[in-house]
Amino acid sequence: MTINNDFKDIVFGRKSIKIYDENVKISNEEILKMIDEAATAPSSFNFQPWRFVVVNTPEGKEKLKPMVNFNLRQNETSAAMLVIFGDKKCQNYGEEIYQEAVDKGYMPQDVKDKILPGFVELYDKLSNEQMTNVVKVDASLFAMQFMLIARAYGYDTNAIGGFNHSEIAETLNMDKERYVPVMIISIGKAAAEARETVRLAAEKITKFI
Ligand SMILES: Cc1cc2nc3c(=O)[nH]c(=O)nc-3n(C[C@H](O)[C@H](O)[C@H](O)COP(=O)(O)O)c2cc1C
Repeated sequence: MTINNDFKDIVFGRKSIKIYDENVKISNEEILKMIDEAATAPSSFNFQPWRFVVVNTPEGKEKLKPMVNFNLRQNETSAAMLVIFGDKKCQNYGEEIYQEAVDKGYMPQDVKDKILPGFVELYDKLSNEQMTNVVKVDASLFAMQFMLIARAYGYDTNAIGGFNHSEIAETLNMDKERYVPVMIISIGKAAAEARETVRLAAEKITKFI
């Protein structure tokens, strides 16, 4: 349930939390709701290439343990580890996505018929490396949005890139040729304060031309 609607607190109060209250569980329904809401994130051609494995059982956590390198505390104490993959065959869902838009009256049928085949063909022709980049960008936008939605629900998160990228798909029974691992997000209620962090000033990292 959304408990925080304070935009500034949600965004600027977000900090990477690495130790969670182990008594706090999040129901599968609530996780699905947060995923649905985070999936309002934009994606290239609206192909929504994000896919998930939610690890929230002791057995699942045990399986994930050898994959998470130095991020053991997050795995041990979080309510869930959201493992985000990018689907390099996301264009296969193009028909379903665009037809639903037509059925809902958001897009005329002839527009769909005109543009969708080109989008699918474009993705079909991309190299493995190009496709990997595309889905990682899209799934990362989902990830950011998920971390903020989690805050609105009263939870804390940590984006985790330090894991075994080459073996995680097989470990979680995902087809490693199709699904590229993007990020893990640990989620739960903070049991310890986050460290403060600093940022480079905009004027140092920005050019106007
Ligand atoms: C893609 C990505 C990967 C990260 N990987 C890890 C990680 O493996 N372990 C960890 O403890 N924190 C990880 N972090 C968290 C960063 O260290 C953290 O976001 C940064 O220091 C800024 O702190 P803040 O999130 O509290 O603002 C990662 C963050 C991002 C965006």
